[in-house]
Amino acid sequence: MSSTQFDMRGPDFIHNPYPTYREMRDRAPAWRDPHTGHVFITRYDDVLGILKDPRFSSNRIADRIKRVPDDVDVSRLVDLLVDRLVMTDGSRHRDLRREVGSAFTAAKVRSYASGTDAMVRQTFDSLREQDTLDVLNDLALPVPSRVILSVLGLPPRDHQRLREWAEDFYLWLAHSPGDIGARTHRAVDSMVQMSDYVDDELRALPSGGEGTYVARMAANLAAGEMTRNEVTANLIGVINAAHETTTSLIANGTVCLLEHPGELQRLIAEPDLITSAVEEMLRFESPSQIISRIAAEETEIQGVTIRPGDMVALVLGSANRDDRVFVDPDSFDVRRNERQHLAFGRGSHFCTGGGLASLEVVSIFRQLVPLLPKARIISGPVQWRPTPAFRSPQQLVIEFDSVAITIAEFGGDWYGQVPTAEGSIDG
Ligand code: HEM
Repeated sequence: MSSTQFDMRGPDFIHNPYPTYREMRDRAPAWRDPHTGHVFITRYDDVLGILKDPRFSSNRIADRIKRVPDDVDVSRLVDLLVDRLVMTDGSRHRDLRREVGSAFTAAKVRSYASGTDAMVRQTFDSLREQDTLDVLNDLALPVPSRVILSVLGLPPRDHQRLREWAEDFYLWLAHSPGDIGARTHRAVDSMVQMSDYVDDELRALPSGGEGTYVARMAANLAAGEMTRNEVTANLIGVINAAHETTTSLIANGTVCLLEHPGELQRLIAEPDLITSAVEEMLRFESPSQIISRIAAEETEIQGVTIRPGDMVALVLGSANRDDRVFVDPDSFDVRRNERQHLAFGRGSHFCTGGGLASLEVVSIFRQLVPLLPKARIISGPVQWRPTPAFRSPQQLVIEFDSVAITIAEFGGDWYGQVPTAEGSIDG
């Protein structure tokens, strides 16, 4: 098994990783990459098992900074990562999650629905009469940014720079090709600026800010419930987490619908399928393709011995295409109505923002879907970002044949169907 090789970097893999994932699931479902020593887990049941297994730790900072050149000082970045919810384990994680997740409970998410709809409508309104749409820059980047600032109680004027800082961090996290030293420098710089920004916001909290998420964090700090670093790290963490993945889902979903015109027509004919369609976009082109854990004890998975300290790469993008679980997994089917996909992870670290992300994306597609039958991609064949960890087109511009952008939302009242992030924590 150790002699098996899989190319997870080349252009063919980046363009379409799914045939390689199928081969990995069938031939080497736990595969140790001889170059990095990381063990890739590709079958659904194994991925799910590890996500629920406390013998695998989420504190993977040491592995993250292993490949950073010595001359880059990452100490500030490490400080800002170490207290981030997604890096913590056990009771510390449980305590932090209660606070960090407080703005994203099912009831809270439902309360954001009409505000999110209004923001989406405003965005479409500002694009009205255009006959082309730059899906990333006009829609998929600005909407999640504005929504998360509003949910947290941060000023809307800051969305541009927060987006840019979040992007620098993401490029570093994604291990994209290129100069890793320069990329790390930029990520450190951006995270330090973001940390100063968050600290300034906490200090300058307006009296009217009471009741906002940021105000709750400030109160936790004042009461000694959270340290300053925990508050700063997690505010940055939530802002970052809310950006890239949601942006990718909007762009990936657009590609899915344009490449499957029959499914687009079905959705137009049956607007109630919208939430099922968004779940299918999450399964079919998962924005977070790979997440990782560190083994705390020796275990064996699919015949491979995992030693303490080994980095285990959980390939969500493969688990979500596993034909041991999903019928005809390589077909995009808006009627599938499948909630067992792992696109938001599972277990104790199940994405806290999943409900909010789904809400935003449903709201956007209610406006976009009626326009898509007359649209085609004019930015060339879809080029995916050159990283196996995240999946998103690098560019996506579409042109409309005979319609300009209008406000044309379809479907009736859907708020009752808003998916929640809560129900699946133990699922
Ligand atoms: C389509 C959009 C999104 C996707 C695909 C996604 C994906 C994920 C995944 C896979 C995890 C699990 C990470 C792990 O177990 O190591 C996660 C965790 C997390 N996500 Fe999301 N996410 C999305 C949107 C959001 C949004 C909008 C927010 C914030 C509002 C958010 C906040 C978080 C946080 C705070 C965690 C850490 C949870 C914990 O460690 O307990 N995410 N997300």
